[in-house]
Amino acid sequence: MRKVKISALGCYTPQRVLNNFDLEKLVDTNNQWILERTGISERRIADPGTATSDLAVEAAKQALAQRKLAPEDLDAILVCTVTPDMLFPSTACLVQKRLGATHAWGFDLVAACSGFLYGLTTGAHLVGAGTHDRVLIIGADTMSRIIDYTDRGTCVLFGDGAGAMVLEPLAENDDQRLGFIDFLGEIDGSGGDYLKMPAGGSRMPATAETVQKRLHFVHQDGQQVFRYAVRKMYEVCRDLLQRNGLSTRDVSLLIPHQANRRIITATAERLGLDCNRVVINIDRFGNTTAGTIPLATRDAIEARRLSKGDLVLFAAVGAGYTVGASLWRWAY
Ligand code: UT7
Repeated sequence: MRKVKISALGCYTPQRVLNNFDLEKLVDTNNQWILERTGISERRIADPGTATSDLAVEAAKQALAQRKLAPEDLDAILVCTVTPDMLFPSTACLVQKRLGATHAWGFDLVAACSGFLYGLTTGAHLVGAGTHDRVLIIGADTMSRIIDYTDRGTCVLFGDGAGAMVLEPLAENDDQRLGFIDFLGEIDGSGGDYLKMPAGGSRMPATAETVQKRLHFVHQDGQQVFRYAVRKMYEVCRDLLQRNGLSTRDVSLLIPHQANRRIITATAERLGLDCNRVVINIDRFGNTTAGTIPLATRDAIEARRLSKGDLVLFAAVGAGYTVGASLWRWAY
């Protein structure tokens, strides 16, 4: 296997801000409850007519520009999303066409909040195997399209956003310790009912009744998901570190999925990581599903909290359930 590095990152969030005070006008909630229970102050919402591929393309263009790559340089594009523009064709095909990535194949990957990490590890294996030189991983979700803005239990949580990373082999003159180290994933379908969009697939196609019953929106048992997430975020990080002979002392930065500030701080506490080694930006973006990890990474870079050689631990838990963590030594 070749060693693989993340060589560029691009992100995009829509301009429009939906803050907690705006939500107070839509549902029976208040700024204090949202802040205390979730850590979220505001989130970004895409304009009508904007779809996930639009966010994905903007993030992709930034990542390509950062590395001075042409779209034709890409060998594959993976779009991790639960809000594709439509069921098919895949959003990867739409993005490939819009970018003009004429040499790339690709596909969509559905793993909800763990999507970006599943994409990263899939891409790392394509590059590691030696069959692909440049793979673009995009995490993009337009959650506002599947959120019920009459349900206070979910509408306060989610926002729209996208991020993209370029994966390539380490160059000969790169420090060979940099790049991808390991990934640990787990799925547990017994949690499937606790977070889902019930209708719109082959089990329950769209009918007037499914629309009237609001079954094309996100349905969540928040407490169940919360308990599972707190336990699994910790366990997957602990196990991944252990099997690589590492401890939390070695971790420069934990970049977790941003679903709830309390889930992140509980994970960090159990791991014994203080807050200056954990990235939290949920206050500004809410939960953007597959977008959170690249968005949080971007913020860490901009705040100069991430440098070449740092050991980065990514972790996520999401609908499915899906669980994942991956370890990288940051390469730029
Ligand atoms: O990334 C995908 C994975 N998703 C997650 O990780 C989400 C995990 N879950 C959570 O983050 C939390 O469970 C929530 C933020 C969704 C809810 O927080 P909670 O502390 O678990 O609240 P709860 O569901 O236990 O509700 C407590 C109370 C209830 O009122 P009663 O029954 O005690 O009178 C709720 O009806 O808070 C009420 N409530 C609200 N009140 C004001 C629920 N949502 C709201 C709201 N504003 N938006």
